[in-house]
Parts: sequence; structure tokens; C-alpha cells
Amino acid sequence: MGSLAGKNVLLGVTGGIAAYKAPDLVRRLREQGAEVRVVLTPAAARFVTPLTFQAVSGHPVRDSLWDEAAEAAMGHIELARWADLALVAPATADFLARLAAGLADDLLATLCLATAAPLWVAPAMNRQMWAHPATVENLARLESRGVRVLGPAEGAQACGETGAGRMLEPAELTAALAAEDGDGSLQGRRVLVTAGPTREALDPVRYLSNRSSGKMGYAVAAAARAAGAEVVLVSGPVELPAPAGVRVIGVETAAQMQAAVQAELPGTDVFVGAAAVADYRPAEPAGQKIKKREEALQVALVRNPDILAGVAAATPRPFVVGFAAETHDLEANARQKLEAKRLDLVAANAVGPDRGFDRDDNALRAFWPGGERDLGSGAKRVLAKQLVELIAERMRAGHQAEDS
Ligand code: PMT
Repeated sequence: MGSLAGKNVLLGVTGGIAAYKAPDLVRRLREQGAEVRVVLTPAAARFVTPLTFQAVSGHPVRDSLWDEAAEAAMGHIELARWADLALVAPATADFLARLAAGLADDLLATLCLATAAPLWVAPAMNRQMWAHPATVENLARLESRGVRVLGPAEGAQACGETGAGRMLEPAELTAALAAEDGDGSLQGRRVLVTAGPTREALDPVRYLSNRSSGKMGYAVAAAARAAGAEVVLVSGPVELPAPAGVRVIGVETAAQMQAAVQAELPGTDVFVGAAAVADYRPAEPAGQKIKKREEALQVALVRNPDILAGVAAATPRPFVVGFAAETHDLEANARQKLEAKRLDLVAANAVGPDRGFDRDDNALRAFWPGGERDLGSGAKRVLAKQLVELIAERMRAGHQAEDS
């Protein structure tokens, strides 16, 4: 059994030439332990017959909203509720446009609107269609709603052209789903995450901030959600869409972040501080735009509250996870933070102009009282999943120690 064991996967197939790869995708998803139900658009049924999908999935295939037998018991709603995750592969330009517009003009589009399951799309189309501003806009709109986009890849296309627009291979799609789908290890838990930078006003139009993009914290929030938790994300100003199923509270300053965290703390089982909170803020932000009169300007700064240490000092307190962003002496500084802030776990990353901040990848080492684990380097999404698994593991170890 693979890592999709027991998952109900709703596979939507739309009408592009890459549909011929979809039966192989069904086979691979089933090899990973998933239960797969296939829904075809009428155009997809012209490329591959429903009978093929029925044979490989082991279940009847639906391709119409007007199936009287299935709809006698509101079959489409039942199917939407059944799904743990929904994947549309291949997703044509036309389907993405309909999805972005929120249309429900066929069974698959209706299911995508009706399901609460995380939705993934694997675009496949001609390279010009992929680059067209209409498609770019539709994708951006879908991503801003939490739809996850897998691919496309670059290469030779069925139309004879070469470029971006090929559907990812079934093995790649299956691996991507398996890599990001959680193991339910935080089921029933409430997780509070901070992410992104804070901005501390100098005057009405200027602020002190840092290079945090929020990518690491958002990835942690998404991974915790995938692991079954209810997740609240307190975020500084970033350019990222809300992860699917995660409640985001937007803040600007450290003081606002602290207030939001304190308000959300009751009932929280796990707190993860991934935000790059400004340690200092201007003591007295100018009421008007500062004019350039002097050759040198001195700004007095005062300490901001330490949000993480505040959570660790609360009673009762959640399982508290901090990040340590270090330019030097990674381990010593991370261990110092673990102890000084009374953390249960610290994830340390080296930061600099070319690492840590504002990138899709990272490298993490985790430390806890009496132990450590190198999580290696890779995509922040992948590291976040490993970190969430480690958090669940350490929490279980803590409970076992309490019970014995
Ligand atoms: O956002 P990205 O571009 O993806 O970059 C990711 C990241 C490098 C910002 C992230 O991985 C990270 O390391 N976040 C913590 C950054 C940081 O402020 O580290 P620190 O070592 O200065 O702080 C230690 C811990 O205390 C952190 O958990 C921080 O959230 C917390 N803290 C710090 C100061 C403060 N006033 N309040 C806090 O809660």
C-alpha cells in the first residue's frame, strides 16, 4: 500500500489529447492505495471511452448531470462529499476558464464547486494557449482560491510545437499527490501558525520590514491542514493565496500579530511561529511623512513583544514550535532559542541573500530537548510536511512519557 491508502480520489478528465494518459493515472493512484471514481466531460469521452475508465477504476464512470438513475438520490452531491481530494487531469484551457468563472454547466464543473475536498488541476494544452493572458488570469484566480496547480511540463506537444503545456506524467502526478497528502496525524487538533514579515511604521508611508515571503509558514499551514488539523494562519503582508481549508487572519505589525495570536490561542494544540517578526519598531512613528532636511537621520527603536515566548509562557500552553533564522552558528543559536524561549521544538534554517527567505526551497534542522533531526533540503512544501510529521511524532512521544 502506498501513501494514498484509504483516500477517496475523484478524478476529473477533460477533453484534451492527454486524456489518453488518464487510465494509467487511475492505475497508479490505485497502486498507491487510493479508491478512484472517474468523471468525464463529454469532450473527454470522445478521447477515451467510459468503459476503459470503468475497467481500470473498478467503478461505474459518470459523464452527465442528467443521469436519471444516479441523480435520483442527488448522486453528484454524494460524490462531492465522498471525495477526500479531487484532481482534474488533464485540465484543458476551456475547463480552467469555466472553473475560474464558477460555472456549473456539466457534472465535473458542478462537482468542483460542490466539493469541500482540496482541488488539484493538471493543465494540458498548446503552449500558446497556456501563455495566453486569459489562461494566465484564470490560473491566478484559481490559485488565489486555493486550487493547486500541478505542472504543466515543457516539451514536444501533440500539435507539433515545443514548449510549456504538456500534462505531467501520471507517475509525477501521483507522486505529487502522495507527497502532499497528509497522514491524518493531526486529526482533531487545532494548529495556529504565524507566517510572513511584519511591517513597523516609520511614518505614514514608510516602514521597517524584512524579506520574508510567507512561503515557509504557508507551507506549514497547508501541511497541518493536510494532516487533518483545523488550521488558523496569522499572516503578515504577503502575496500568497490562502491555503485550501485554512482560515487566514491578515495583520501588519508585530503588535497586531501578537494580539491575533493571543485571541486565537484558547483551544490551540500546536503553535508554529514561522513569521519573521520584527524585533524592533520605531519608538515614535512620525505622524507626517519625514522630510529630507538633515544629512543623517537617527531613528530610535524599541523592542517588540516576543510572540513565541509569550505563547510558550501561557498556561495551559500548546505544543510550541519556533523557527530559528540564523546567518551563523546555526546549531548553537537554535539550541539557545529552544532553551531561552522554552520551546518544544525548533526548526533551524540558515538564512542569507541566497537562502531561507523568499525562495521555494529551504533546508531545515530540527532540535528538541534531548534530540535532533536533519530534515534535509528541498521544496518548502516537502519540508513542511516532514516538519508536521515530526511535530505529531514528538507530541505522541510527550503523551507516552506522561502516561508512563
Ligand atoms: O517567509 P519565507 O520567505 O518563506 O522565509 C522563511 C523564513 C526564513 C522566514 C522562516 O523559515 C523562518 O526562519 N522564520 C522565523 C524567522 C525569525 O524571525 O527567526 P528568529 O530566529 O529571529 O526568531 C525566532 C523565533 O521567534 C521565530 O519562530 C519567530 O517567529 C519568533 N519571534 C521572533 C521575534 C518576535 N518578536 N516574536 C516572535 O514570535
